[in-house]
Amino acid sequence: MKHSAAAAPEPGAAPDGAPVIAIDGPTASGKGEIARRVAARLGWHYLDSGALYRVTALAALRAGIALDDEEALARLARELPVTFAGARIELGGQDVSAEIRRQEVGSAASQVATIGAVREALGGLQRSFRRPPGLVADGRDMATVLFPDAHLKVFLTASLECRAERRHKQLIEKGFSANIPSLLQELSERDARDSNRALAPLRSAQGALVIDSTQMTIEKVLESIVQEHHRRNG
Ligand code: CDP
Repeated sequence: MKHSAAAAPEPGAAPDGAPVIAIDGPTASGKGEIARRVAARLGWHYLDSGALYRVTALAALRAGIALDDEEALARLARELPVTFAGARIELGGQDVSAEIRRQEVGSAASQVATIGAVREALGGLQRSFRRPPGLVADGRDMATVLFPDAHLKVFLTASLECRAERRHKQLIEKGFSANIPSLLQELSERDARDSNRALAPLRSAQGALVIDSTQMTIEKVLESIVQEHHRRNG
């Protein structure tokens, strides 16, 4: 988990009453970048929950575990040798921060994320990031399942075309090959899988601030979330 503070908390640490800003939304909606910047602005911790599903998927791909082998995947998630140091994510001591961003790993992540035992195994670790002075968490089920008492819930979206363009730019910048037509198809498949699954499907939580960022700059989105946070906290 990327973390705005120096050290990541111990897995399994009891959650406390620290405030949470939960930011959910579909793939490539800009959640990660926005959540990281909101956390930096407030000096809060940051949880990139998708990274955990991506690391689990990468470990499965490397071990040759089939993406529908629920038992093996659950065991893998429970024993995942993952560590987070600032923005660096390690799997078994190896830096995998860049590799987990590959499109095929994202796609595999959305398949392992449909398995209840995997979600359960990763849930405790995600909750352990809730520490004072506060947590900004991004994912699919931050507001609906992991932190239903979050004091601010944001549902961040953008048009499919806009998200495909953003993801294309991001992948090219990271040195991966990508093209818009296949990204359009891949993102819409992932939207469907994440929204239609039985467990923790992607949906806007009740009372969430819904932001469609299609026509907005990152700065504008950031400001509206920070303003709403201050408004709610007097
Ligand atoms: O970066 P992108 O938005 O494409 O994906 P991500 O946030 O890194 O998440 C990868 C996949 O993990 C998603 O497509 C979801 O299926 C799954 N995921 C989830 O089920 N629950 C979360 N809280 C976060 C991610």
